[in-house]
Amino acid sequence: MRKKIVAGNWKMNTTFQEGIDLAIEINNLVVEKAHKDVIVVVAPPFTHISEVNKAVDNDRIFVAGQNCATENSGAFTGEISAEMLWSAGADFVILGHSERRSYYGETNEKLKIKVAKALEFNLTPIYCVGEVLEEREANKHFEVIKEQIEKVLFDLSEADFEKVVIAYEPVWAIGTGKTASPEQAQEIHKYIRTLLTAKFGDAAKKTSILYGGSCKPSNAKELFANADVDGGLIGGAALSANDFLAIINAF
Ligand code: PGA
Repeated sequence: MRKKIVAGNWKMNTTFQEGIDLAIEINNLVVEKAHKDVIVVVAPPFTHISEVNKAVDNDRIFVAGQNCATENSGAFTGEISAEMLWSAGADFVILGHSERRSYYGETNEKLKIKVAKALEFNLTPIYCVGEVLEEREANKHFEVIKEQIEKVLFDLSEADFEKVVIAYEPVWAIGTGKTASPEQAQEIHKYIRTLLTAKFGDAAKKTSILYGGSCKPSNAKELFANADVDGGLIGGAALSANDFLAIINAF
């Protein structure tokens, strides 16, 4: 059975206290009202991880980093390693988010190393892929996604591959209010699963593939209803505990 996952990417939002308050609010709602078969993840800024992890019910809510370093330790000012995230209580890490790719020069080559680091330190990578608007308009979206998947994931062992979660996030839909239609999402999710099946066989049936990009309470149900959409990576709507709960319960 594929796991249903809803992950909230807080990006660079909330002060420390605001973050703890939000985590407590989400926790209270999730513990009381969320569908039990959905894995709930929150990805606060690095500074909040340890305290958010203490503030939530660890059987119900998992904590994620939003990035990790390509190195384990050493003279890399400003970087946070996978082991540090794990030691602060994280279980997941978002890797390859389009904002990291476009603003911080993250290439597929770097992301391949980051995925390996995450797996080495027992973090589940939520590996993001997606095309920008010009690529979609030029009908290059399949090609771009194929490269993002092949270059980063295809050298993994089957055992490691089974631990990876994928998020399809069309860049033109992130923070823009424009969502991919359920048909567009399903088309790409199915394509990703076909690519993965060709490489990893039946293991790909169990891979959770999340949709991200202006997912909100009003559209989550029709997105999650698709055969290959196993949940969501939520940005803006994850900063409201009520909206986040509504998305979790859209399954
Ligand atoms: P959004 O962001 O939901 O605000 O569009 C999604 C994401 O960037 O993960």
